Amino acid sequence: MVETIPSFGLGTFRVDAAKTTNAVKSALQLGYRHIDTAQYYNNEAAVGQGVRESGVARDAIWVTTKVWWERLSHDALVASLTDSHAKLDIGTIDLALVHWPSPDGAVPIAETLAAMQEAQKLGLIRHYGVSNFTAPLLEEALKAPGGDAIVTNQIEVSPFLANRALVDATQKLGVKVTAYMPLGEGRAHTDATLKAIAGKHGATPAQVTFAWLLSRDIVVLSASTNPEHQKANWDAQKLKLDADDIAKIDALDEGKRNANPPFAPKW
Ligand SMILES: NC(=O)c1ccc[n+]([C@@H]2O[C@H](COP(=O)([O-])OP(=O)(O)OC[C@H]3O[C@@H](n4cnc5c(N)ncnc54)[C@H](OP(=O)(O)O)[C@@H]3O)[C@@H](O)[C@H]2O)c1
Repeated sequence: MVETIPSFGLGTFRVDAAKTTNAVKSALQLGYRHIDTAQYYNNEAAVGQGVRESGVARDAIWVTTKVWWERLSHDALVASLTDSHAKLDIGTIDLALVHWPSPDGAVPIAETLAAMQEAQKLGLIRHYGVSNFTAPLLEEALKAPGGDAIVTNQIEVSPFLANRALVDATQKLGVKVTAYMPLGEGRAHTDATLKAIAGKHGATPAQVTFAWLLSRDIVVLSASTNPEHQKANWDAQKLKLDADDIAKIDALDEGKRNANPPFAPKW
């Protein structure tokens, strides 16, 4: 079993179920060992098929899914993870996240965490964690029974949203940060600073972005259905940036948030 969350994963948001199986298979064959999906993405069954058909041993792979915010009450959460478990069909799911906190705390986090523990006892999931939690919400969750087992807070982080206060608070609380939408909805590819740093290292702006996140001890999720992009993204783990590069990327932060739906917490 993979015991800790692997630092570089394949995302599957906005990937059609029809393309997901091949994307998962090619990523696993390239060396990825962490796949991120969600109930909301409607592609859990295709992710599971990719895992099963990849030729990579199931116990070498970490699969995360996420429970939609409308299913956070005890029975709804356990029922939804029973469904995810059946759709993925890969045995116990490695990690289940609360996709978004319950708006206005309608479902107490203690109830949701108790349900996550129930899902563990039933063999549906091995670990649980949260996503899109602000620092106060994360602190509240950590204090609730079972809160000390939260493995990650998955949040938006890109060069244009360094999200420094939340990243620092999460890391100080001993919780791993996982970054989503790392390329700022494609903006990283054309940013002049990232292009210049990429040129200096014979790399791509996407690789520079991922190396910057890894240098901050942040787990990276990058989504691609294109095996060439998947390979290039994976190779970013070999790129080492210098202090000057990192300072220049840090200076790109403008607090530009892309994921901010009506049910998001008050950031
Ligand atoms: N917890 C949450 O609320 C939340 C929210 C959003 C996302 N996520 C997770 O985080 C993952 C990553 O976020 P994301 O999918 O929005 O963003 P992303 O990985 O930054 O962007 C994906 C897009 O970038 C393109 N791309 C990737 N690598 C490329 C490369 N080397 N060159 C050119 N284009 C490239 C892909 O196209 P090609 O397929 O053509 O390569 C795809 O259209 C998601 O898939 C999901 O698993 C979580």
